[in-house]
Amino acid sequence: MHALIVVSHPDPKSLTHAVAHSFAEGVAQSGDHTTEIADIAAEGFQPAFNQADRSAYFLQQPLPADIVREQARIDRADALVLVYPVYWWSFPGQLKGWIDRVFSNGWAYDEAPDGTLGQRLGRLAVHLIGIGGADGGTYARHGYDQAMRKQIDHGIFDFCGARVVTSELLLGVNGQGGTPHLVAARALGADAFAREAA
Ligand SMILES: Cc1cc2nc3c(=O)[nH]c(=O)nc-3n(C[C@H](O)[C@H](O)[C@H](O)COP(=O)(O)O)c2cc1C
Repeated sequence: MHALIVVSHPDPKSLTHAVAHSFAEGVAQSGDHTTEIADIAAEGFQPAFNQADRSAYFLQQPLPADIVREQARIDRADALVLVYPVYWWSFPGQLKGWIDRVFSNGWAYDEAPDGTLGQRLGRLAVHLIGIGGADGGTYARHGYDQAMRKQIDHGIFDFCGARVVTSELLLGVNGQGGTPHLVAARALGADAFAREAA
């Protein structure tokens, strides 16, 4: 099995990147599996939905080359793993833009002439790992965790028929080292394909 781990964070020395690497180590230790870490910040992915994306959305033009490349590496994977810091109780803008552009009409979903929606990512397992500074009590009190799961897990991945296998928020990094999160991420990676097989 192969996991594509997409990381959206500008600093390769950040906890977010360390969590992504720990997840990859967990996958590797769990069997004969492979991973690719896609550092979309270092790769310079352009997140703003542009005119070419819009033409492709209306099926008037082919998709831009950078989007074809992103979709191809997801198509090569059995599992898509997103690792990101929580910014303003949501994805960072770069990752939201990656979804806006890559999860295109005709690839992630399609729409029949009668308006019926088709889900095209049924074969894809998805693992979501957000890393937040605030603690779990703050998320629970305000309903931020539920809001994120509704918008991201349900609104994006359920919409396209993908299976959200892992949905974790690693919280409370302010004022503590990240070691517990690295241990948790490694365990999630080790479990990723085991849960798939179960
Ligand atoms: C622009 C910005 C917005 C943030 N918004 C939130 C937030 O809404 N909730 C939260 O728990 N943490 C928030 N944080 C804190 C980050 O989630 C936290 O610092 C980060 O996950 C720590 O990991 P890192 O070292 O990989 O950046 C924010 C940080 C930044 C820079």
